Order: sequence, then C-alpha cells, then structure tokens
Amino acid sequence: MTFESKIKTIEWINNCSRMIDQTILPKEFKLVDVKTAEEMYYAIKDMIVRGAPAIGIAGAHGVALGAIELSKTEKNKEEFLKKLNQKAQYLKSSRPTAVNLMWAVDKQIKLANEIQGSIEDITNALIKNGIKLENEDIEINKKMGDYGAEVVPKGATILTHCNAGALATVGYGTALGVIRSAFAKDPTIKVFADETRPRQQGARLTTWELTQDGIPTTLITDGMCSYFMSKGMINMVVVGADRIAANGDTANKIGTYTVAIAAKYHNVPFYIAAPLSTIDISIKSGKEIPIEERNHEEVTHINGDWICAKDVNIINPGFDVTPNELITGIITEKGILKPNFVDSIKRVFEKE
Ligand code: MRU
Repeated sequence: MTFESKIKTIEWINNCSRMIDQTILPKEFKLVDVKTAEEMYYAIKDMIVRGAPAIGIAGAHGVALGAIELSKTEKNKEEFLKKLNQKAQYLKSSRPTAVNLMWAVDKQIKLANEIQGSIEDITNALIKNGIKLENEDIEINKKMGDYGAEVVPKGATILTHCNAGALATVGYGTALGVIRSAFAKDPTIKVFADETRPRQQGARLTTWELTQDGIPTTLITDGMCSYFMSKGMINMVVVGADRIAANGDTANKIGTYTVAIAAKYHNVPFYIAAPLSTIDISIKSGKEIPIEERNHEEVTHINGDWICAKDVNIINPGFDVTPNELITGIITEKGILKPNFVDSIKRVFEKE
C-alpha cells in the first residue's frame, strides 16, 4: 500500500533537467532548469539537488545534456564518445560520497558505448534512459516502502536523520518512503526529525515534505535523540544511505553514527532504507568510503551570520560511517537484508 506524494524533485522536460531548488526551501519553492553538463555539475556540487538517489538521476540527466551539447558540433563518433566520457568524469567529481552518482553516470556511458547507431541515436538513447531511470526510482522507493512498513510497530514514533525523502530521490523517498507506506497503513504513527546540522536538511526539508503530506512530525535538535530514546519515546530509527559497503557499513549524513550508537544502547531498532544502487560491492568495508569535506561556512554561519569566534579551527565532514553491527536491517527494493550483511548482500547481488 502506498501513499501518494506530490513532490517530483527532478524531471526531464523539454530537453532540460527541471529540479526543485533545495537550497532555498522551505522559505521559497522554485524550479530550476538545468541545460548543460556544466550547470549540472554545479547543481550537484552546490546542492540545488541533493540526496544520493536524486543526484544519481541528476548525473544521468547530466550525461544526456552533455550528449545534446556535443551533438551540435561533433560529427565524429569516436571524438563524441571521448568528449562525452570527459563530461561524465567531470560530473562524477561533483560530490564524492554518494555512489548512486557514479552508478548512474557509468550506466549512461556504458549505454553510449554499446549503441551501434549515429551520434543522434546515442543522444536519443541517453535521454530515454535518463527518463527510464527517473521513473524506476519512484517504483523502487514504493517497493522499499512496502517492505519497510512491515517492520514498523503499530503506533510507532520513528526517528529519522537528514532528509531521505521525496526530495532526496525523484519522489516518495527511501526512509521517508517507508514512513509514507507505514502511515498509509497506520495513521497513528509519528515522526521525530533530527534538525541535522550543519545544513539542516532535517529541519528545512524533512519537516517541509512530511507536514505537506499531513504526517505528524516533531522537530528535535541532533543532541536530543538519546534523551527521547531513554524516555521510551522513540520506537524505531530509519535513515537513508549514501554508500553501503559489501559488509553493510553505511555512510550517511554526519550524525547518523551517533544516532545508531544511541539506538543500540536503548534497544531501538535501527534501519537503513536504500536501493541496491547505493550498495557498492566493490568495497569491502566502510573504511574505503570517501567522505566529503564541505565548506567551513556551513559550520561557522547560520543564515549568513557568524555564530562563532572568527579564528576558531573548523572541520566539516559531510558524512559518517555507521558500522554494520549497529544496523538491524537494510530495507531494499528486493526485501530487508539482515545480518550477517556480508552474506545477505552477496546473496541479493548474486540474484541480480
Ligand atoms: O548532503 P546530502 O543532503 O546530499 O546528504 C543526504 C543524505 O545523507 C541522505 O540521508 C542520503 O543521501 C539518503 S537519500 C535517500
């Protein structure tokens, strides 16, 4: 059973990629049309579009935009493919942690190399495939939602961190997709949303999209989760992921690891909701996941105002890695993977 969410985060329309500008939500709702691969690089880097599955689709659209640009001047197919590959590498360098970006861009480049036809045929195939991946993303999220809803206790209060919602995907969401599907079955469930410093995706984006859907949501600051767990006020945690290693170690927004430790201590089930495209079976453990270091202004400033001493040292990793032993289950479109994750992940990929 699914719950319809009206939010479409990114969409291929009139030969451009139309996306919700997530840097200005919830103050302003604005759509941005991205028309070139370079514009897409900056849309991802500057987080106009963010969230692992959404930036995957943005990458796929970016390759299609690159092909459109090149097809206007390039007549030699080999040169076209060489230059397209350069644009693809450039797109992949926009953000390092979410593997969905590499997954989707590589899929497009593989397709471009397989097409036997003309430059025009390749360009059309890339556009078509970008739209296909876009549509599949929503279907995958709904499947995850259905699986995940089965493990949500009746009347539960669910804690989530960052935004793993419709805004982090094409629509419906991963962790928030589980919440949407659970809410469709049981309207007594409630959500606690972590603020998620420094960029406040929880406060700005998760509360915005859940309250639009009428799902009861309480905003808390990041340091409050243990307090509410100790009071028995949180029954389950569900978060998204940016990259999952072959042993289940999971990179997600900075602060997720702290929530997982608190959940373990208080015996609160801790779930990851992520599509198989977020699992990077080429890496054995979370130690190999590249962690993005972000602009220090995200820490020193709030809404453009300095909030600390001007000569203080700053460090700003965008993600942390939750070790697999803290994870109860990984909710995917193929079912819920359980520990031992080395085996359950291996098994699900063998069937692919
Ligand atoms: O830096 P962001 O906002 O792109 O980080 C997003 C997250 O960490 C999400 O939780 C993750 O991508 C899962 S999205 C379904």
